[in-house]
Parts: sequence; structure tokens; C-alpha cells
Amino acid sequence: MIATFRTHLPDAAATEAAGRALARGLAGGMLVTLSGELGAGKTTLARGVLRGLGWEGPVKSPSYTLLEHYPLSSLYLYHFDFYRFADPQEWETVGAAEAFTPRSVGLVEWPERVAGFLPPADLEVHLLPATGGDGRTLELAATTTAGERCVSEIRKALAAP
Ligand SMILES: Nc1ncnc2c1ncn2[C@@H]1O[C@H](COP(=O)(O)OP(=O)(O)O)[C@@H](O)[C@H]1O
Ligand SMILES: [Mg+2]
Repeated sequence: MIATFRTHLPDAAATEAAGRALARGLAGGMLVTLSGELGAGKTTLARGVLRGLGWEGPVKSPSYTLLEHYPLSSLYLYHFDFYRFADPQEWETVGAAEAFTPRSVGLVEWPERVAGFLPPADLEVHLLPATGGDGRTLELAATTTAGERCVSEIRKALAAP
């Protein structure tokens, strides 16, 4: 593990802000996994990433389609939600392999469901219910220097002044 960080996200706006900050560290070829139960805030964080990358259109949850694809000017962003992933064939039909090229960034909700298919992540994001209160706990673990850049950006953006 290269870098870890843990912080409290008091509301959905804070989750989105974490995503925007994360976006500043992204580069082509990266894989970021988003773990947490249903309603943890994974799609909210993904929306922040897309806003941070300049995407102004709608950000839909890929819970039925498994994949939403965003052609940005600098890179291709693939947002997956594998909650409903049941059949290994789906990996092919959805075109998942395209997400893991040097020009692409993959954001993956429910990575646990496709553990055997995914390449190693640069950054693992975990969202948990905050203990004894509102909001969420955000936990980050970077395993590459690329992932570490995202951790630094989030730390800078969210650290108390
Ligand atoms: N830090 C937070 N504190 C409180 N509510 C949050 C926070 N982050 C996100 N939410 C809310 O949680 C709900 C579920 O978010 P969503 O991103 O759809 O979760 P997931 O994709 O993990 O199922 C939304 O109503 C969202 O606004
Ligand atoms: Mg979701």
C-alpha cells in the first residue's frame, strides 16, 4: 500500500467534492474501484469525478446497463456498476475490456462481483456509514503512484484548514 487516507463526509455534497478532487489526479490507464453497500454514495462520488472532468450532462447510475461511457476530451471514462453481474458472458457483451486501455479510466462499483476479471486497481475507495451519526466515512487505499496522486488531491481538498 502506497498511501491511505480516511475522512468523514458529512453530506452528499462532500461526497461529490471528494469525487471532484479525485478527478484532478486521474490519468489514462487508471482503474478506481468504489466499494460500499447500496446507498453508500458510490454513484454520488462518480458524479463528482465526472463533474471534475468537465462533464456537464446527466450522470446516470449504470445499475441496469452495467456500463455508462463518457467520451471526454482528455480520456474515455467508463463507469461500471456490477451489482447485477451474474453471468461471466456479460463481461464480453458489455465490452468491459475496452475500459482498460491507456486512454481509458475505469470507475467500478461492486468490484467484488467481478474480482476474477478486473486488473489490479490503482485506487480503492470505500464508503461506509459513519459511526454514530450522519454522513459517511471515506477510506482510500492507493497501490500505485497514479492512485497516490488522487489520494493527495482528496487530502488537500478535504483536510480541515
Ligand atoms: N456523505 C453523505 N452523507 C449523507 N448522504 C449521502 C452522502 N453521500 C451520498 N449520500 C446520499 O446517499 C444516497 C445514495 O447515494 P448513491 O450515490 O446512489 O449510492 P450508491 O451508488 O452507493 O448506491 C443518495 O441520496 C446520496 O445523496
Ligand atoms: Mg450506485
